[in-house]
Amino acid sequence: MLLADDEVHVWQTNLDTSAEERQRLRQYLSLDEQVRANRFLFELPRQHFIVGRGLLRVIVGSYINVEPSQIQFQYGACGKPALANQPSKKELRFNVSHSHGTIVYAFAFARELGIDIEWINPKSEYEPIVRRFFSAQEYGDWLSLPISQREPAFFACWTRKESYIKAKGDGLTLPLDRFSVSLKPDEPTALLNVHDDPTEVSRWSLYNLAVGKSYAAALMVQGHGCTVKYCTTTSICTVSSKQTL
Ligand SMILES: CC(C)(COP(=O)(O)OP(=O)(O)OC[C@H]1O[C@@H](n2cnc3c(N)ncnc32)[C@H](O)[C@@H]1OP(=O)(O)O)[C@@H](O)C(=O)NCCC(=O)NCCS
Repeated sequence: MLLADDEVHVWQTNLDTSAEERQRLRQYLSLDEQVRANRFLFELPRQHFIVGRGLLRVIVGSYINVEPSQIQFQYGACGKPALANQPSKKELRFNVSHSHGTIVYAFAFARELGIDIEWINPKSEYEPIVRRFFSAQEYGDWLSLPISQREPAFFACWTRKESYIKAKGDGLTLPLDRFSVSLKPDEPTALLNVHDDPTEVSRWSLYNLAVGKSYAAALMVQGHGCTVKYCTTTSICTVSSKQTL
């Protein structure tokens, strides 16, 4: 699979698959991943983990030409997975997010990235969450919207914020109210400010991802001028066509 230096590939698939395909993907998992799979209390999340991780190995393998079972992962201080033993000049970076049976992956060479998908689970009470977790600027922007636009704006903002946290890899040590993203439908998708380091804004590009009407998703990519391409699997193990978002 070819991935140009100025491209980011986004993959999306459903995690519900046949027992046969799941068994095939399970064989690629490392010992620690098998242990993790066995620790799930419920069957569905176990199956989803096996498929998600197995497919990650298949896709990574297609980019770096390595057998899925031979791929080694390492983990950052807050758990962000990365590839181990990579050439430092052309390191394949990736990030993963899953929600309600759908998984998205993002891949790029030599640039950090973060991706987030959320299933749009309609709630009537967004305001307390926005007040508590969003920045003051985001709270003001969200309140300024007509009621009919608040739900999509909530999910747009949430996934954009998560994509930044995931790109940085710092987990919850990066407080959600210390940076702002755009959320108004008529505004360009962007990281607007980072309280503790204003230079961050010029380091990242933020993309809205079209992932179907029941989901919201966002992608944060280090640097500028990338082309984001969207990839699908015709079957769970098969790498196939791409189209530009
Ligand atoms: C990263 C994080 C925000 C994602 O949570 P989420 O929205 O519930 O889940 P998503 O589906 O979007 O993402 C999960 C995937 O992100 C990746 N991931 C895990 N930790 C990550 C991190 N710190 N940064 C980026 N990506 C991470 C993994 O691939 C994970 O998938 P897996 O569980 O199948 O391996 C959450 O796991 C987190 O905050 N982790 C850090 C915990 C923390 O802050 N600890 C204290 C400080 S070290």
